[in-house]
Amino acid sequence: MGKVILTGKGRRWYLRGHPWIYKDDVATGDATPGELVPVEDPNGAPLGWGLFSSQSRIRVRMVTREAEQPNRAFWAERMQRAVAHREQLGLMDPAGACRLVAGDADGVPGWIVDRYAKTLVIQSGTQGADRMRDFLLGLLKEAMPFEPETIIDRSDTSVRKLEGLEKIVEVVDGTIDGPVLVQDHGLLYEVDVFQGHKTGHYLDQSANRLKAAKLASGGRVLDAFAYDGLFGLHAALAGAEQVTCLEQNRGACERIMANAERNGLQDRIKVERVDCMKDMRARAERGDRHDVVIVDPPAFARSKKEVAGAERGYVELNRRAFDLAPDGGAVVSASCSYNVSPRDFVEYIGKAASISGRHVWMEELTRASSDHPHLVTLPETDYLKCAFLRVH
Ligand SMILES: C[S@@+](CC[C@H](N)C(=O)[O-])C[C@H]1O[C@@H](n2cnc3c(N)ncnc32)[C@H](O)[C@@H]1O
Repeated sequence: MGKVILTGKGRRWYLRGHPWIYKDDVATGDATPGELVPVEDPNGAPLGWGLFSSQSRIRVRMVTREAEQPNRAFWAERMQRAVAHREQLGLMDPAGACRLVAGDADGVPGWIVDRYAKTLVIQSGTQGADRMRDFLLGLLKEAMPFEPETIIDRSDTSVRKLEGLEKIVEVVDGTIDGPVLVQDHGLLYEVDVFQGHKTGHYLDQSANRLKAAKLASGGRVLDAFAYDGLFGLHAALAGAEQVTCLEQNRGACERIMANAERNGLQDRIKVERVDCMKDMRARAERGDRHDVVIVDPPAFARSKKEVAGAERGYVELNRRAFDLAPDGGAVVSASCSYNVSPRDFVEYIGKAASISGRHVWMEELTRASSDHPHLVTLPETDYLKCAFLRVH
């Protein structure tokens, strides 16, 4: 069995509570890829157990700070805990969807499981999570209140390269024919679990969509960066008079219309396959107004180096959103860039308000849905910000 011994600096870092041990903080240590290893301080005192990576700069991801080696019962308890939390949140309706296991926050580093009705889509980003996949799946199935019909491995994210891992896209269990359908607060929508973004869908925005929909009744809604149009579809279901979804991805645009028809909302939903930045500028110039403007762009800052460019992007985008809002209109503005802090994001929104000359107040700044917990010792898990703004 491998073992990892920290440097003095590594021990100090460990004591701050962050669950990742970096390569430079390891004095000695070797193990096989993905192995569960004991971690010790420079004097040989046990610090817990973590999953080893032979390739990544993140050498160990801590699983427990207890000296005792995690066994089957330990992992079974982690899976039971993850499922129980979602049950408590009211998210285990077999027809619905939720993030069932949220990686480090659920105590399973690098392992994500999203549930779309009775289809589970797993996404592993580490050697450890790959190695434990089948074992964890067995325990997860035991913990679930119903049997999943299909299990898909969608481990195809680019972070796998840092771990020296190939992409995996495969059906692990069961069969799949036709789109996966999810029932979500009265809306039936399809998910492309093989080619869609993330595991097929942006589950982290589930609660924010319902909140935004409450602002939409009787109004005109612009859903920019719409993906499968779930903000817009919920707004239409809540009584919006007209919803325009802007999105550049062809498959997503097709799914918006398919979902609109599936729910009898096609007369109130319009889809335009455009570049949102250009389109919103053109709309503002021709004097279009939308009572609710939703902007949910992809991460503008994927690294610290991109923050300056991201600031320009967020300021420009929010300025256009404000231009499009009538007096008293609402803007729902999201950022999923971890490298842009909530405070920075609000500052960018302020700059946009000042350029547009509008009086903008913040009604609420929310985060990801509660099935995407933020592990307080791992700031990387606090990435999504969603500002509910009012414009005069
Ligand atoms: C964070 S996702 C949006 C998620 C969506 N609002 C939801 O609730 O599921 C960002 C989306 O913006 C789209 N996108 C990225 N750049 C774009 C652009 N310049 N114009 C239009 N769409 C864009 C991507 O294809 C992606 O679907």
